[in-house]
Amino acid sequence: MNEEKILETTAEYVKQKLRNVDSGHDWWHIQRVWNYTKAILKEERANSFTCQLAAILHDIADHKFHAGDENIGAETATDFLAEIQVPQPITDEVKNIIQHISFTKSFDKQSYFSPELAVVQDADRLDAIGAIGIARAFTYGGFRNQEIHNPETFFKESFNKEAYKQARNSTLHHFYDKLLKVKDKMNTKTGKRLAENRHEFLKTYLNQFFEEWEGLI
Ligand code: ADP
Ligand code: NI
Repeated sequence: MNEEKILETTAEYVKQKLRNVDSGHDWWHIQRVWNYTKAILKEERANSFTCQLAAILHDIADHKFHAGDENIGAETATDFLAEIQVPQPITDEVKNIIQHISFTKSFDKQSYFSPELAVVQDADRLDAIGAIGIARAFTYGGFRNQEIHNPETFFKESFNKEAYKQARNSTLHHFYDKLLKVKDKMNTKTGKRLAENRHEFLKTYLNQFFEEWEGLI
């Protein structure tokens, strides 16, 4: 198979696999991250084929929905790529990207870096902010039965990895926990630039939210 056919076959496999996934990790999230990856690649230097494959496969099995098994995504992707005979060095890199892309990991010391991880991680992070990031946060919040906001438990700084995993706070809390921090965590120059507008939108949204909450407007 040529590269284009491999990408097409992989996308079809992922689309089928995520058919019933009802969260922020459905096929449309994958398609957006794939598109952002291509946009970033227009300006950044990294292996395009590897980045695209990793973008398509990065959420193939979310450990949050698989009893906390952190490796299941990377293993599922590796098995699939072996089946369609993708060269080993590319498969190895895709595996590394999947293992290190998650936001939760950024609490740990960065243990792995590659230009390809930098691009795909930026693409995934873009989808967590802006109008779409807000939609995804409240969808996730509804799924977890979270309150939208609770002034009694609201605080702006979060703590550590375990607390983050277990946090059952409001969805608005998640904005301060994660979304507003994303901009400064972007890896590439292009990613940073693309994050700016989305970040400003988050701030505008929060201002309006609090004004409405207080009955000021
Ligand atoms: P990733 O897989 O990129 O590390 P997650 O799986 O943690 O990210 O999150 C997927 C989506 O759900 C993101 O848009 C994220 O902002 C949102 N999300 C994660 N945790 C929460 C939470 N506690 N409250 C609201 N939204 C959340
Ligand atoms: Ni993702």
